[in-house]
Amino acid sequence: MKRTLRDFDWQGKRALVRVDFNVPFERGTTRISDDVRIREAVPTIDYLRGQGASVILCTHLGRPDGKRSPELELGPIVERLSELLDAAVGYVHDAPGDDAKAAARTLNAGGVLMLDNIRFWPGEEANDPEFAASLASLADGYVNDAFGTAHRAHASTEGVAHHLPAMAGLLMEKEITFLGGVLENPTRPLAALLGGAKVSDKLQVLGRLIGHADGLFVGGGMAGTFLKAQGYEIGASLLEENLIDFCTETMERAAATSTPITLPDDVVIAERIEPNVPTSAVSISDIPADAMILDIGPRTAASYAERLAAMGSVVWNGPMGVFEVPPFHEGTRIVAEALASSNAVTVIGGGSTAESVAHLGLAKQMSHVSTGGGASLEFLEGKELPGVAALDEVQGTH
Ligand code: 3PG
Repeated sequence: MKRTLRDFDWQGKRALVRVDFNVPFERGTTRISDDVRIREAVPTIDYLRGQGASVILCTHLGRPDGKRSPELELGPIVERLSELLDAAVGYVHDAPGDDAKAAARTLNAGGVLMLDNIRFWPGEEANDPEFAASLASLADGYVNDAFGTAHRAHASTEGVAHHLPAMAGLLMEKEITFLGGVLENPTRPLAALLGGAKVSDKLQVLGRLIGHADGLFVGGGMAGTFLKAQGYEIGASLLEENLIDFCTETMERAAATSTPITLPDDVVIAERIEPNVPTSAVSISDIPADAMILDIGPRTAASYAERLAAMGSVVWNGPMGVFEVPPFHEGTRIVAEALASSNAVTVIGGGSTAESVAHLGLAKQMSHVSTGGGASLEFLEGKELPGVAALDEVQGTH
């Protein structure tokens, strides 16, 4: 198992903590629209401060491509973190250089310092060994709490782990426990609920879950290609023509294993994706040529909700419809509410699934809402994440 921050004596030591503070902002402003990634890192920072460490934080924000970009500096994030910690947070416009070294050296026990957006330096994404070594020289131990970026092999997520004692933070540990639990030792029956726009985003996760989950429920835009493969006319709905054969084979494979796939049997359709356009709910055999599938239908939503709530665990990745545009959020809302009030272990993938659950105010009622979008999907596909793989191994259990 992976070493965690509890397996190190932090008294008087400096911790380099990689966090994922790549948070969204209200368009054109410096107002953070969702601070969950910052809040979720607080337990790790508090733990280290409580153990007598000084904390040097490192994150990326956006994709500045190895160049300084003033609108991707971390001022608003530092301010929010300082509020959450109720403590001053230093901010140095440097990461690998002398200014960062000086600031790290003079940090007192319990002090917190934020390095600048680590993607301002080309060595980060190139996973340059010298860049990683220079980051490592700032600290005595490395803690990776950036699950959301653990699928990237960058200097601050992977390279640096080879230069210092390298441990998982509390958020990283929680993510691995819940997502790993679904793959390794789920409370059965285990259902997977897959949605989102495209089948092409879910090829590998489908492959990993068939034969492992006890049932797979499909919604979202991706249901259209599955329905087409089953011989239904799907009108003007999103279709991935090149994946029709894949969907047919997937249905056949599923039928031959213990993972039956359930597709919607009714859908909500409209001619345009616009708030409050005229819509109707139709059976999947009655989709008009000019209509688009934009949500699962009420019959399907009720049936998915009832069947999912009776499961031992449910892993959910991808909304059931165009949830950002009402009324196409209804299917997502109905299944989310059923999961929130069920006794099932509910593990929600990050990205738009987490966003929809947060928007509905249901995040706290789920067992776990991942902070990783791409990372949670890759984890569920069964891939080894470089940021996790690079952490030290230890014997035993916690
Ligand atoms: C995310 O938001 O998914 C992570 O922070 C990773 O960001 P990236 O896709 O730019 O590497």
